[in-house]
Amino acid sequence: METISIIDSKNHVNQKVKIGVWLTNKRSSGKIAFLQLRDGSAYFQGVVVKNNVEPEVFELAKEVKQETSMYVVGTIHEDSRSHFGYEIEIEDITVVGESEDYPITPKEHGTDFLMDHRHLWLRSKKQFANMQVRNEITRATFEFFNQEGFIKFDAPILTGSAPEGTTELFHTEYFDKDAYLSQSGQLYAEAGAMAYGKVFTFGPTFRAEKSKTRRHLIEFWMIEPEMAFMHQEESLELQERYIAYLVQSVLDHCDYALTLLGRDKGLLKNYTKLPYPRISYDEAVKLLQDSGEFDGLEWGADFGSPEETYLANHFNQPVFVVNYPKAIKPFYMKPHPTREDLVVCADLLAPEGYGEIIGGSERATDAAYLEAQIKKAGLNEKDYQWYLDLRRYGSVPHSGFGLGLERMVTWITGEEHIREAIPFPRMLNRIYP
Ligand code: 4AD
Ligand code: MG
Repeated sequence: METISIIDSKNHVNQKVKIGVWLTNKRSSGKIAFLQLRDGSAYFQGVVVKNNVEPEVFELAKEVKQETSMYVVGTIHEDSRSHFGYEIEIEDITVVGESEDYPITPKEHGTDFLMDHRHLWLRSKKQFANMQVRNEITRATFEFFNQEGFIKFDAPILTGSAPEGTTELFHTEYFDKDAYLSQSGQLYAEAGAMAYGKVFTFGPTFRAEKSKTRRHLIEFWMIEPEMAFMHQEESLELQERYIAYLVQSVLDHCDYALTLLGRDKGLLKNYTKLPYPRISYDEAVKLLQDSGEFDGLEWGADFGSPEETYLANHFNQPVFVVNYPKAIKPFYMKPHPTREDLVVCADLLAPEGYGEIIGGSERATDAAYLEAQIKKAGLNEKDYQWYLDLRRYGSVPHSGFGLGLERMVTWITGEEHIREAIPFPRMLNRIYP
């Protein structure tokens, strides 16, 4: 008899198998017990029929408590009534680890209670489905960039630089020096691109954001590709191909997870159609002003979540907003060739209210210009000499971007809140568990 995972049921119909499972829920009558089971690969039902098993087995099936771990032995059958399509008719049960009264019951619980029990909540169906999608996006990211000739390049987490501004830095001590937790791997990725052509970083990043929104985490994971000899227009083409690739990969490999989440697969399929629309920041401001919904919005303002939602919904597709005002973007962006007040950059805004998922730009290549920008941003030039060296020794046009992994997962799963896109979210007021 083979020991299998639930997900492999389809290859074992009418066969007797053994599976290691946890009990998530149960109901029973005098003659039959239905055990809802999970093993981390999927969720399905075990059926115990009193007349077909030893009396102790049926007693155990009736008494066993939620989250007890056990081995079940039985025969796999097709079950057209369930999401999953298969069930197991159980002959024997061996308890592995008994469970105390489990705090998360099938009834409704408040979010704070659930977040306090995040280490257990992760076992629930929706959380399982979200982590499947997260895993697929990670897997497909490596696949995509490897196919495109990129190499994975690891940026440090402890750093002396602050690419995205000084207000949201996590400060720490590095022996007798100051250090920060990385806000972005970008500046290091630029060194990587000058060394190896096309690289991508993928690591944790930290922002001490005081804002409490459904889109912000304090600790999040970012994918940051950086490409030498590449201008912005070509970078945008790469970005949209990458996003479409991720969406298609989730459709191809996470059908069960999307079904559990009730996500509209047809809608997701639309997001694989390229190209995505591009509008300039100037046009975006005009569109918002003309809508009459954004009183007092003036050229030069940064967009918040209502503006981003309006813009992406206007197109029903992810949309690139290009060339923002220099004053609201970081120091490293390439100045616009004809408009002194703009930089050559783009944010990709996701539809359905998910907002900015990518921020990126072409990079400034002129050392003197960059040095002035670094001073203007209130940063210490001494800390950026290595970065300026990248312009001093064979500088080339180069571009890059950053995709927030959890923003992407939140959008693809259709979740309401970004806390569901990462196993243990770090948020304002939460570092437990
Ligand atoms: O727009 P951001 O700040 O850009 C950068 O960090 C650049 N260095 C990227 C680059 O060009 N290499 O952040 C990029 C993306 C955002 O579009 C968003 O998806 C995500 O990172 N992000 C966050 N995700 C969750 N919580 C936060 N607090 C986030 N801040 C940014
Ligand atoms: Mg941004």
